[in-house]
Amino acid sequence: MEYTADWDWFVKRFEGMSRIDLTAYKRPQMERRINSFMRTVGVPDYKSFVDLLLNDKVVYRRFLDHITINVSEFFRNPNHWEVLEKEIVPVLLKDKNSLKVWSAGCSTGEEPYSLAMMFKGKNINISEKILATDIDMDVLEKASMGIYSDKAAQTAPDTYRNRYFTREGDFFRVNDDIKKMIKFERQDLLKDQFGRGFDLILCRNVVIYFTEETKQKLYHKFSEALRPQGVLFIGSTEQIFQARDMGLQSIATFFYKKI
Ligand SMILES: C[S@@+](CC[C@H](N)C(=O)[O-])C[C@H]1O[C@@H](n2cnc3c(N)ncnc32)[C@H](O)[C@@H]1O
Repeated sequence: MEYTADWDWFVKRFEGMSRIDLTAYKRPQMERRINSFMRTVGVPDYKSFVDLLLNDKVVYRRFLDHITINVSEFFRNPNHWEVLEKEIVPVLLKDKNSLKVWSAGCSTGEEPYSLAMMFKGKNINISEKILATDIDMDVLEKASMGIYSDKAAQTAPDTYRNRYFTREGDFFRVNDDIKKMIKFERQDLLKDQFGRGFDLILCRNVVIYFTEETKQKLYHKFSEALRPQGVLFIGSTEQIFQARDMGLQSIATFFYKKI
């Protein structure tokens, strides 16, 4: 099926209904994903697609999942978390005794819960609740419930799963002492203001569909949000080009320090 309808028109209408600005994402990938979704729901053009999205909440939800890709895991890329725990955090704690931390693009919560479990398990103090943000309200709702399938919970190390989750039938519920360490909030990284003075920011597997220009702007904003010597932890397929121009310096693979 060929789609010749006006992409710009669709982008505008979609922003009106979702507040998501697709122009910040790489167009070829986004268009491909959207067109493949349109094929699966059997609509021939953008106009009928917008009508469908406005009238069918289930399809709208599935579509958001399809384009935002909410996949996550506890301690995703465990060897990078080991570097975080053994090398990065001790340095961050050299000149202070508690950390201000942000998980940006936290999806269904596995990343901020991993942070909370690590901090609790290693007696690392946080100066305020871990900030966990995402553009998608539905994933945030799931995140704040803290209930995971057996398969999802298996990605947490045994000691943490045994200590910080309670089994409820086929599910695992994150214990309240971990939950209360986190504050979940909706935020669009491309539009909303950032806080300041973070010791550690995680933004992992979020920028993958952003244009180069959008990525550069975003990393610049993260740099401004970090305190001097604060650290940005990025995803395992990501790299920051011209980091120095943004006031960042690579200190380990996937970790950048604010100069
Ligand atoms: C693949 S998940 C990453 C989850 C977690 N950081 C990890 O690495 O496992 C990507 C998340 O980025 C979020 N996202 C995409 N665009 C965003 C934006 N402009 N602002 C905030 N979050 C965004 C999506 O909603 C999705 O939940």
